[in-house]
Amino acid sequence: MTDAAPVPLGRFITFEGGDGAGKTTQAARLEEWLQTVGRTVVRTREPGGTELGGRIREMVLHERGHIAPRAEALLYAADRAHHVETLVRPALDRGDVVVQDRYIDSSVAYQGAARGLGADHIRSVSDWAADGLVPDLTVLLDLDVAVGRARVAAARGVFDRLEAEASTFHETVRQSFLGMAGAEPDRFLVVDATAVPDDIADRIRTRVGVLLGVAA
Ligand code: TYD
Repeated sequence: MTDAAPVPLGRFITFEGGDGAGKTTQAARLEEWLQTVGRTVVRTREPGGTELGGRIREMVLHERGHIAPRAEALLYAADRAHHVETLVRPALDRGDVVVQDRYIDSSVAYQGAARGLGADHIRSVSDWAADGLVPDLTVLLDLDVAVGRARVAAARGVFDRLEAEASTFHETVRQSFLGMAGAEPDRFLVVDATAVPDDIADRIRTRVGVLLGVAA
């Protein structure tokens, strides 16, 4: 009788930060490295990680008219509820590593702080939507707001509905993320997003290596 290989522990890693901070680039690099150490990776994002979520993303980011702030918060929460139940939890249960662009902390920063709906309310709505799923690690790519906006403008030229908000909105988002990271230092890794991309990737790998018990 041969023993089946033990199923690895599923791990949930999220990337947070303002627009233009390089989350997508770093998430892709982390995925590549995780594959080289033999892990199965599910890379996903909110909003829009599922087919239904894609339609919600379209509404919340590209709706031309006004969306009431509470409705906006609930659209992100609805996307999250469906995403966590149908994609993220099943992946974690299989023992995969889920690497995700944005999660509950984005709702707390954008809707809770910057839209003024209240961080505690928004976190509790999102926790309910996600049935209490908390990331094992959250990488916060911290970046000066003006630098982030210049990067988005250079890369794409157009801003979506949230990106088009004023600089003060984005400064509130940044400070909210930093506040959360300060309050939960064990969950967060804060990285200066102006550093060289290779150095950022190294720091992230080192921390994830510790989490997974593999050499970075
Ligand atoms: P993102 O997918 O990072 O944008 P892009 O791929 O265009 O760089 O995020 C889309 C926007 O949605 C971003 O401006 C942040 C915002 N957002 C919220 O306001 N609340 C949330 O809960 C989430 C997940 C994102």
